Amino acid sequence: MTTNMNVNSNVNANENVNEAKRRIQIFDTTLRDGEQAPGASMKPEQKIVIARQLARLGVDVIEPGFPISSPGEFQAIQQISREIQNVEICGFARCMKADIDAAVAATQDAARRRLHLFISASQIHLDFQLRKTQDQVVEMLRSMVAYGKQFVDQIEFSPMDASRSSEEFLFRVVEAAIEEGATIINIPDTMGYALPEEFGPLFTRVRQGVRGGDKVVYSTHCHNDLGLAVANSLAAIRHGVTQVEVSVNGVGERAGNCSLEELVMAIETRGESMGVETGINVEHIYETSRMVSRTMHFPISFNKPIVGRNAFQHESGIHQDGLLKNRNTYEIMDPEAMGIPRSMIILGKHSGRHAIKHRVSEFGIKLGESEIEDLYNRFKEKADELKIVTDDVLMQLVGESTDTIVQPFSLVDLQVLAGSNRSRIASVTIYDSENETERTYTGSGEGPLEAVIQCIREAMPVDAVFEDLELHSLSTGEDASGEAVVTVVSGGRRNIGSAIHKDIILAAAKAYVAAVNGVILTRKMQEVRKEASGE
Ligand code: KIV
Ligand code: ZN
Repeated sequence: MTTNMNVNSNVNANENVNEAKRRIQIFDTTLRDGEQAPGASMKPEQKIVIARQLARLGVDVIEPGFPISSPGEFQAIQQISREIQNVEICGFARCMKADIDAAVAATQDAARRRLHLFISASQIHLDFQLRKTQDQVVEMLRSMVAYGKQFVDQIEFSPMDASRSSEEFLFRVVEAAIEEGATIINIPDTMGYALPEEFGPLFTRVRQGVRGGDKVVYSTHCHNDLGLAVANSLAAIRHGVTQVEVSVNGVGERAGNCSLEELVMAIETRGESMGVETGINVEHIYETSRMVSRTMHFPISFNKPIVGRNAFQHESGIHQDGLLKNRNTYEIMDPEAMGIPRSMIILGKHSGRHAIKHRVSEFGIKLGESEIEDLYNRFKEKADELKIVTDDVLMQLVGESTDTIVQPFSLVDLQVLAGSNRSRIASVTIYDSENETERTYTGSGEGPLEAVIQCIREAMPVDAVFEDLELHSLSTGEDASGEAVVTVVSGGRRNIGSAIHKDIILAAAKAYVAAVNGVILTRKMQEVRKEASGE
């Protein structure tokens, strides 16, 4: 495979891989278009936390919301503009004075800002939504771009539904916007309708066919209705676009927007062949994705590229074996470079001895040949029964194979008292294998999980912050079992524990215990390594 196998001869920017790479600006609209996803709305204080994280991630522009939509939204945008001074802030507005006034006022204190104005350009939108003629639309956008230009130098203009507009009218609106002072032309595929081979060349035609078209910056904003948002954005890049509008986890209207992590990693991985790069700090990708998913209560599908749970998991023995010998055999990206914990390797019935041994060694446990053989046999039996062998089950099996207790702590019993008019009370019995003691702890909370977590925290006093809990149903019907995945953070390192049970509260408790056990075992392993190296 040659590095430039996909290069389109039409593009002036990527013909020579030795030339300096073209920098693609990442414009993040998680807090605006992303928030338009049904059920994804956020509180102002949550938006501010996410904006800080986006700045850490290294995005070039943040569109923090729609200023006119509510007073809370306005204040959040105002605070983000005041606080996040190293990223350009974008005020979003329809071609209406009141919208522009709100966007200008909300972004007043930003160190760098722009105004993003949009109006529909497709005939179907003009006829049925705006109920305006083409002349009226051109007149509206002319007067509103000129109005906005009095306050803000950088004006981004978006002809909405561009990919379904007549090219003639599209050229007309873009030309009018440029004449009135627009500096950035964003051509959106609003309905996710375009195909890469037609969408990319559209940019070349606009640049060449519109008066002043060679004087502005081009941007794209693609929706994912046909699963083509990233492909269309890459096609636009090939045709000279230098800004791409994206959202974390691809959240957004309907099927969402071009996913930030997918686009950025496509550029990181294949940027040589495209001659482009971004300024994203990829080590923050996973953390940002988790934060957005948690805040919006938007689960990420298991097979979502880059950040999905299975994105770097190899269950097949052949893949796991190859991977452990040399990760390039079956991985085109390094998950750890994106902050994705390696412990996410899934063990199941397809896993081989090598992978099991490796996973056990990650907990600092060394097994002899006969113990491995015994563990392997027990493992296969369990895997047939359970589908996925989680860490707590694996550690139990290691204990059975070695006739020892390997987990620093184990959950002996759990009881929860729940009812509609009372706070939930939990009682959890934990065995401490180092001190050989068993103790029962009680806790309470608004929900049963909160009560259980309180008990476990007291029982296992390790400085590990409970970061995240994911619950998944593994089957349907009355006997459905649930999988709990708990992430804890200790000393900057993430540890994941997982467990499966028909009782989801019990699964969550076991997963939490497994995650904290992981922290303790990892620390022990580090100490052993330090001693061995004489440090
Ligand atoms: O999808 C779209 O067209 C938009 C614009 C208004 C940029 O979100
Ligand atoms: Zn959109």
